[in-house]
Amino acid sequence: MTERTLILVKPDGTERSLTGQVLSRFEAKGYTLVELKMLTPSAELLAEHYAEHEGKPFYQPLIDFMSSGSVVAAVFEGERVIEGARTIMGPSDPTVAPAGTIRGDLGRDWGEDVQKNLVHGSDSPESAQREIGIWFG
Ligand code: RTP
Ligand code: MG
Repeated sequence: MTERTLILVKPDGTERSLTGQVLSRFEAKGYTLVELKMLTPSAELLAEHYAEHEGKPFYQPLIDFMSSGSVVAAVFEGERVIEGARTIMGPSDPTVAPAGTIRGDLGRDWGEDVQKNLVHGSDSPESAQREIGIWFG
């Protein structure tokens, strides 16, 4: 099967009415949208999703942020979509994310204890399979 990745428009993205702009960049690149839904994720769902970050200083602020509003969860499909989506997103810190990336063009630092950076994308085939199961299983 063609590669798939989980993309999340985080609560800062939906709150700022950037959902369409974020998703359109993956579509414009040529990837295929194959699943889509909107929800306010529970702390339990987020604990599973962010298990790798448990114990880090930004962990609880991250869970609080991600459960603070609507999230749009999507699955995109295409050859090397996991790597390609991460390139489109740019690095975590929006201040240094290059112009042309989602985080570089639309994100900024808000001086909070977690980076609000608009979008999540799976970082490996193993993460993608695990995360798609959590959000769409
Ligand atoms: P993501 O998982 O959301 O696609 O982002 P990522 O791989 O670029 O970043 P990761 O290291 O997995 O961290 C997950 C999310 O936690 C928030 N974060 N804030 N020091 C901070 O303020 C900090 N560090 C991480 C970000 O929202 C990041 O995307
Ligand atoms: Mg990550």
